Amino acid sequence: MGKLFVMDHPLVAHKLTILRDKDTSVKDFRELVSEIGMLITYEATRDLPLTVKSVETPLCQADMPVLAGKKIAVVPILRAGLGLVDGVLRMVPSARVAHIGMYRDEETLEPHVYFCKTPKDIAERDILIVDPMLATGGSADAAIAEMKRRGCKNIKLMVLVAVPQGIARIQSCHPDVDIYCGAVDDHLDEHGYIVPGLGDAGDRIFGTK
Ligand code: PRP
Ligand code: URA
Repeated sequence: MGKLFVMDHPLVAHKLTILRDKDTSVKDFRELVSEIGMLITYEATRDLPLTVKSVETPLCQADMPVLAGKKIAVVPILRAGLGLVDGVLRMVPSARVAHIGMYRDEETLEPHVYFCKTPKDIAERDILIVDPMLATGGSADAAIAEMKRRGCKNIKLMVLVAVPQGIARIQSCHPDVDIYCGAVDDHLDEHGYIVPGLGDAGDRIFGTK
């Protein structure tokens, strides 16, 4: 079964609380999503391999660690996942971006892929799928399945808020995928919204409500 990493950090907890406030402005919401994305990226990249490089400090020559240059692709689930891309790229500037468009049937809540554009070498890259919300898990499940269809093997999922139902779905359908999240909330309401949650992440990032 994939591992679940829940951020245990006061900065993330504090920023998430502001995010949840219904009176937080679109501008602040967008900035906070990006900042929390950056902080979770810190955890999600903890296992990146290092190599050694010789540097000349003002005092001497020394062998020091540098990233081994693993190829990474960040994959936002449209739309709301776009809000996390900037934070990831600030931490991992060399990452490529692959977009996956997903909409949910409003009655069944089941997702459908309508767009997927990736770098040519996507199958050779480590994949970080990003989306603020893991609710039923349907969108993330379908996004992971699409990346696997394209040959990707090493996949992680990064979300801001998850519920146990969505986590269970990913762990059961994709036991090879680890999940990194900012918080685990209580439950889903009858419309598939996370409670207490933060509302419709896409609408709040893009100001469409
Ligand atoms: C939201 C969210 C996830 C999905 C989570 O997107 O950003 O993609 O819902 O729900 P699930 O786990 O039940 O699939 P939404 O469908 O509202 O689209 P949007 O990003 O365009 O707002
Ligand atoms: N999608 C959202 O944007 N918010 C939720 O609470 C659940 C799904």
